[in-house]
Amino acid sequence: MKKVSSVFLGIAISLLLFVGCGKTPQPTPSKQPEKATETTGGSTRMVSSLKEGFANDFTVGVAIDLYQLKDAELSALIREQFNSITMGNTMKPEAILDQKGCEESKDGMPVINEDVLKKQLSLAKENGLKMRGHTLVWHNQTPPWFFCEKYDVSNDKIDKETLKKRLESYIQKVLTYCQENYPGVVYAWDVVNEPFSDAGGYRTESNWYEIYGDASYIEDAFAAAKKYADKDVKLFLNDYNSYMPNKRDSMVEEVKKLVAKGLIDGVGFQSHWDMSYPDVSLLEEEIEKFSSIGNLEIQYTEIDMHNTDKSKESMQAQAKRYKDFFEVIVKADREKKANITNVTFWGLNDEVTWLTSFRGETSYPLLFDENNKKKPCFDSIMQLAK
Ligand code: XIL
Repeated sequence: MKKVSSVFLGIAISLLLFVGCGKTPQPTPSKQPEKATETTGGSTRMVSSLKEGFANDFTVGVAIDLYQLKDAELSALIREQFNSITMGNTMKPEAILDQKGCEESKDGMPVINEDVLKKQLSLAKENGLKMRGHTLVWHNQTPPWFFCEKYDVSNDKIDKETLKKRLESYIQKVLTYCQENYPGVVYAWDVVNEPFSDAGGYRTESNWYEIYGDASYIEDAFAAAKKYADKDVKLFLNDYNSYMPNKRDSMVEEVKKLVAKGLIDGVGFQSHWDMSYPDVSLLEEEIEKFSSIGNLEIQYTEIDMHNTDKSKESMQAQAKRYKDFFEVIVKADREKKANITNVTFWGLNDEVTWLTSFRGETSYPLLFDENNKKKPCFDSIMQLAK
């Protein structure tokens, strides 16, 4: 069971194509927040949001689409609960690259669409939200023409030296625009996303790997990001199934090399969990292995828990499992066994989750239901709030 589901997830993510969720939510923010209590100097106050409840532990984020920040009720819910956002799709290369600009580029280097960045960063700023930048280098959601001569898919693929130059130029342009125009808004970047194979070793079915002939594009990407990032902007390596032992160990080796070279700040565990996999013990080992590298932040970058059964019992079981997982995370951080700096949920509510289209079955994986009402898993996680 566990094998089937993890293998399914791995294969399915490898084959992932961009498909928008395309649903329009009917927001009705809950008026009755569950409350945890916080005691300070003898007085007790009620804590009703994730961001307050875990303020001493880590920031709490949510992946969103831009329309959600434009919707008054949804943006109020986002601001009430979270202090970090990740754009679900629109900070990816396919959203930012300007194909016509690239084709006409005088120096052959990529051209970006600054308006796309501007729309998102300005809204984040207006709402007082910090953003995780997701993502600079990825085999997915990067247009195939980016890897071709003259940015045209009907041409041959470019060589390694050309790709290396495009990589640095793209990173330079995106980081520079964000930092010069909206300093402090993007506080972390997933510099490279999903470069590992579930079986261990590197992902080879990737234009990056194929054109480079090896995985040294990872270090090149971090070197470029380090060169252009402001000193407060943190650089992450991000992947899914990072608790699977073979994959995890490959990641650990790579991260060690990058830490030794001073190029990386942290590792992102995507954490697309389901109801049977992974076991909580794998989460403990994941934290332990990465923290033993030292000098490394950990962020849970894309949490959700696939569950197709909406019954009361199943939602309770999901709440219990979320709590078990959060106990491990919070304990490691509070006992200073790991430096966990952010926990992000991959979606605001069950109305709009990528899992429904990705897994091909309706999923209820998040903390708020289709009507933005807090689910049992919200309450169970809040029991750990301080
Ligand atoms: C997903 C988005 O949520 C979907 O809307 C889109 O169709 C595909 O990409 N790992 C990642 C994320 O790093 O960028 C993916 O996001 C989910 C898996």
